Amino acid sequence: MSADRETALAALYSDFAALNMEGGWHRRFPALWAEPRRNFLPHVWHYADVKPILERAGELVDTQQAERRNLTMFNPVEGNIYSTVRTIVAAYQMIKPGETARAHRHTPNALRLILEGHGTSTVVDGKQVEMRPGDVLLTPNWAWHSHSNDGAEQCYWMDFLDVPLVHLLEPMFYEPHPDGVEQAVELLDQAPIAFRWEDTLAQFEAEQARLGADVPLTIELGPAQLDTIALHMLRINAGQTSAPAQTTANAIFAVVRGSGFAEIDGARHAWSFGDTIAVPAWRAHSFHAEQDAVLLRVSDESVLRKLGWLRSRRP
Ligand SMILES: [Fe+2]
Repeated sequence: MSADRETALAALYSDFAALNMEGGWHRRFPALWAEPRRNFLPHVWHYADVKPILERAGELVDTQQAERRNLTMFNPVEGNIYSTVRTIVAAYQMIKPGETARAHRHTPNALRLILEGHGTSTVVDGKQVEMRPGDVLLTPNWAWHSHSNDGAEQCYWMDFLDVPLVHLLEPMFYEPHPDGVEQAVELLDQAPIAFRWEDTLAQFEAEQARLGADVPLTIELGPAQLDTIALHMLRINAGQTSAPAQTTANAIFAVVRGSGFAEIDGARHAWSFGDTIAVPAWRAHSFHAEQDAVLLRVSDESVLRKLGWLRSRRP
């Protein structure tokens, strides 16, 4: 290239920059690539490590000070301080006897998985829902929700929200309830807001009878009420391994019972009750149970399906 042309090109690029523009051929980072990049990292948070920390937070921080006394799990990928996987954040939360978490509503969709404790209930749009271990309870986009512990035990649960997706697309709205705590007008004990542990077990039994074999099972918690989050329960009995999977969906798994290990992109990660396992998009993964296990899978599969971007392959 002649020196004149080189000088002219440099001047052109500098004029692009002055207009906040860039030549597609001159871009420093590619905009397209052949298949999904594996940006977010597989990671496991162990409930045994988290629980004592939650208890210490319970002594130091009250529910007046914290709208929600929760501990979010941020993926260790560089530069990230919030999301557990690209589109979903997960957190552990504990509420002590006599405590109330005030009512609010927000555009992010949320759900919780109850780990331990009895006597706590949540009020969702005026409906009181008891929180019992193994239950999955939903608070869809813009539904009022508060939590109260009227029992004698500390209650531990996990929250999952699509907040990172809302951050990306920007439609964030949030509002505290004018009365602080919403009064419940009726009791609710079933789908579509509450998926009870005993119903999950019954669904597994029905699915096993349908298949006629003791194999790893996946059931959907449905009909789906959250537009952005798909919910599945996996049952993997001791000695079984789930079929290896690789998908464009981002997923977070929570261990409802049992123990074992996950194999994610060839690395082994041990898990047991209450643990959280981040399996970001396009990471080949399978689960092996050492004790009879049930895992909740929280994913953005429904979003990808609606947009025509849900793809999977057998790794
Ligand atoms: Fe909330």
